[in-house]
Amino acid sequence: HRLLQHLCLFHFLVVAVNSSVSRDGQEGSSSGREAAEPGKGPAEPGRCEVPPSHRFDCGPERLLARAGCEARGCCYAPVPSGAGGGQPWCFFPRGYRSYRAENLTTTAQGYSARLRRVAPSFLPGDVGTLRLDVALETESRLRFTLRDPARQRYEVPLPTPRVSTRAASTLYGVQVLEDPFGLVVSRWPGGQVLLNTSVAPLFFADQFLQISTSLPSRFISGLGEHLAPLILDTAWTKVTLWNRDMAPVPQVNLYGSHPFYLVIEDGGSAHGVFLLNSNAMDVVLQPSPALTWRTTGGILDFYVFLGPDPKSVVRQYLDVVGFPFMPPYWGLGFHLCRWGYSSTTTTRQAVANMSAARFPLDVQWNDLDYMDAKRDFTFNKETFKDYPDMVRDFHQRGLHYVMIVDPGISSSGPPGTYKPYDEGLKRGVFIRNATGQPLIGKVWPGPTAFPDFTNPKTHEWWHDMLKDFHDQVPFDGMWIDMNEPSNFVEGSQDGCPDNSLEKPPYVPGVFGGRLQAGTICASSQQFLSSHYNLHSLYGLTEAIASHNALLRIRGKRPFVISRSTFAGHGRYAGHWTGDVKSNWEQLSYSVPEVLLFNLFGVPLVGADICGFLGDTSEELCVRWTQLGAFYPFMRNHNDHGNRPQEPYAFSPAAQDAMRKALRLRYSLLPYLYTLFHRAHAAGETVARPLFLEFPKDPNTWTVDRQLLWGRGLLVTPVLEAGQTKVSGYFPAGTWYSLAGVGAAAGLLGADSTIHSKGQWILLPAPLDTINVHVRAGHILPLQEPAFSTAESRKKGMALVVALTPDGFARGELFWDDGESWQSFEKGDYTETLFLASHVSILRTRGHLDGILLEAVTVLGVTSPPRQVLANGARVDDFSYRSDTQVLRVPVSLPMWEQFVITWS
Ligand SMILES: *[C@@H]1O[C@H](CO)[C@@H](O)[C@H](O)[C@H]1NC(C)=O
Ligand SMILES: *[C@@H]1O[C@H](CO)[C@@H](O)[C@H](O)[C@H]1NC(C)=O
Ligand SMILES: *[C@@H]1O[C@H](CO)[C@@H](O)[C@H](O)[C@H]1NC(C)=O
Ligand SMILES: *[C@@H]1O[C@H](CO)[C@@H](O)[C@H](O)[C@H]1NC(C)=O
Repeated sequence: HRLLQHLCLFHFLVVAVNSSVSRDGQEGSSSGREAAEPGKGPAEPGRCEVPPSHRFDCGPERLLARAGCEARGCCYAPVPSGAGGGQPWCFFPRGYRSYRAENLTTTAQGYSARLRRVAPSFLPGDVGTLRLDVALETESRLRFTLRDPARQRYEVPLPTPRVSTRAASTLYGVQVLEDPFGLVVSRWPGGQVLLNTSVAPLFFADQFLQISTSLPSRFISGLGEHLAPLILDTAWTKVTLWNRDMAPVPQVNLYGSHPFYLVIEDGGSAHGVFLLNSNAMDVVLQPSPALTWRTTGGILDFYVFLGPDPKSVVRQYLDVVGFPFMPPYWGLGFHLCRWGYSSTTTTRQAVANMSAARFPLDVQWNDLDYMDAKRDFTFNKETFKDYPDMVRDFHQRGLHYVMIVDPGISSSGPPGTYKPYDEGLKRGVFIRNATGQPLIGKVWPGPTAFPDFTNPKTHEWWHDMLKDFHDQVPFDGMWIDMNEPSNFVEGSQDGCPDNSLEKPPYVPGVFGGRLQAGTICASSQQFLSSHYNLHSLYGLTEAIASHNALLRIRGKRPFVISRSTFAGHGRYAGHWTGDVKSNWEQLSYSVPEVLLFNLFGVPLVGADICGFLGDTSEELCVRWTQLGAFYPFMRNHNDHGNRPQEPYAFSPAAQDAMRKALRLRYSLLPYLYTLFHRAHAAGETVARPLFLEFPKDPNTWTVDRQLLWGRGLLVTPVLEAGQTKVSGYFPAGTWYSLAGVGAAAGLLGADSTIHSKGQWILLPAPLDTINVHVRAGHILPLQEPAFSTAESRKKGMALVVALTPDGFARGELFWDDGESWQSFEKGDYTETLFLASHVSILRTRGHLDGILLEAVTVLGVTSPPRQVLANGARVDDFSYRSDTQVLRVPVSLPMWEQFVITWS
């Protein structure tokens, strides 16, 4: 309904304004430099009177003194040291001219124009003429591109929707400003300006492309991957994107690049912007508020998503980059890993110890330990002598098995000793250096070559190597690490050539100061283009190759977890947040990281539970396991040499607390799996920030110490040491605590109910408890937990019905065999809808052979029922407590048939 109200006729305005002349009242001038020269007397009053927060940097690539600044036609206003600020000292004057728009014409998709550079810029390689294309792709999606019409430049090889017509009506209007060129996108109806690129000049040089825009609000999220809060700081923040192997610290480019942001506007509408560009870039946020994209190559290819609500923005973004893959059911269980399970004996012990301590475990992992000399597709014939048998034994117990695979292929052995390298050489799959030979860097096995996953031949070779290995060791999933790609020597063993790709005129704020720092030479050659252009796609392209190879080898749903990511990654793989430290700060940052990756369409994400680097503590590990039970991807992973941190390694009390958290997760898996289905089929998020559900409540916008699972479950973890209480924000409505989880699903129930007006609430949170609340109006499907999903999937189910004050609730269950490829696409699944009113729960559609519904817990039953009927038959052993208003109905109903439960 709301969406329909927002529909309106398409508005397209073309306004030709020579803004430098009309606004500043000066004589027209043919040169940006001349026209922009500041402080030249009364003819140019106020050109430099730009409020500090509105200043855009005129010297981004180096520090300029007054003379250098003014030579660029810019304004110079140093800030006394210690005066704070953060604004640039050298900034563009008002009306600084760069390109002018000409020849605006109508096209099938929208509009196009020529842009002509008025005067040379201060960086080499200006593209003098540009082509602007504006495509009104859908009612809520606008695309605009700036290209060099004379030369095909590199474009990101991401498959995006092809649209050949224009939308009949749109939620946006577009305005093209002629001179200086600018594009304004506004929301219709209402006219709220979402983008205005005329706030600063456009640059389009060979290795320096820059465009700025005003923002309608300070509430901007996205632009990963960084260790940062959910909402970014607009007080002069520079966000750098260039994939990098880097233990997460704030303000540094990390493993992935997601050039997508979402802005919440006043009133709770939202829009999103995606720059489809994979070059090294900076994004600068400033307090006016405004944003500047500054990238080092490619083209400017923008998508704007109009929402109008934040959830729709995410779905519209995923319409472009792809909906998430459907993980196998076992992938949602508990994963255990560490570097230092040095033999099959130790690895088997870990599994045995988990089982002896009665902890659930679905997937056992190995790090580098299994390999022979740390080389891919090999195993140590002494310490991992019975490796294939170990994996088969795990399968016998209903477990799955995943091992690490690094992209670097050992290149130092004599020919004939290592097939992956020999075969790779023969098939020409490696990235090449300036002399056309495989570039050799250094990773764990020593000297290594790097497969070029943009080459289709490499995909064949990767499959063949994996297949050979799988024929020996029947692994179930892949953990792809070091794929930024990471390199222990800078560039290559032979250094890097001295050229403009290695040393571009503008180097974004990458850690290490040079593009090749921690990785391979930017000018090395790949099949599709230079590594300079393709670098940040390395992890994505490896994930695609791995996903496809696993599918061919196993014939079932692939499971791939990758460290490096790019936009669109979620279609193929999940992500873990890398080498986090075992400390409280990193525990709390993991909440916004998980939320952000859900906005990026990578819902299968989690941080290493208890932390990876350094020793954990018992309290930290308990709290981290409780939060980790609500990471969509739940893995405990530890570094070599640290104190053990498997759940069984702690005191009985700590173990009890962890067991409780794990059982809670396993109980909720049918709900979690259904959320993944919704992500896969409809572009929804799994773990989501509060603002996605409650955009009209501004208090929710910055909340990033809590997370929602879907619409119905709110998780409020303890993220600090020594706390037994935790404060959480509860949007207006009724929230039932999901506490007292016992062995049987029927023991679930509420012990305290929050009726919030939209407020912060202090909750008790003893060390053995994580606060989880069910939102009134939702029905959650649960299943009795077991020690693996292979077992739990056969157990009885239960429903938790959280009634609104009016007595309504609804919920869904998606169910299939948990591992077949495209079961949804092939129609081989069951989808069940549960509806509750104050008299009945109905189940409609579908079947779940063999599974019984064993319990129904109804929260918010205001008066004691006299009689409860299940399919018309009296249930005598129901219980009701008037203090908690909880009705419990033990039943035994086939889930594969329709049923009705009534109480009156
Ligand atoms: C733009 O339009 C002008 C006048 O209509 C015409 O002379 C010129 O050739 C056009 N330029 C381009 C690049 O189409
Ligand atoms: C866009 O920004 C320019 C430069 O700041 C300003 O003059 C103009 O009024 C803005 N346009 C709109 C529609 O806000
Ligand atoms: C398993 O438990 C035994 C007994 O407590 C212990 O000695 C061993 O180190 C544990 N193994 C692992 C891998 O944790
Ligand atoms: C390219 O790599 C080969 C090794 O594969 C090396 O011998 C050669 O020196 C390298 N060339 C350059 C220009 O670094």
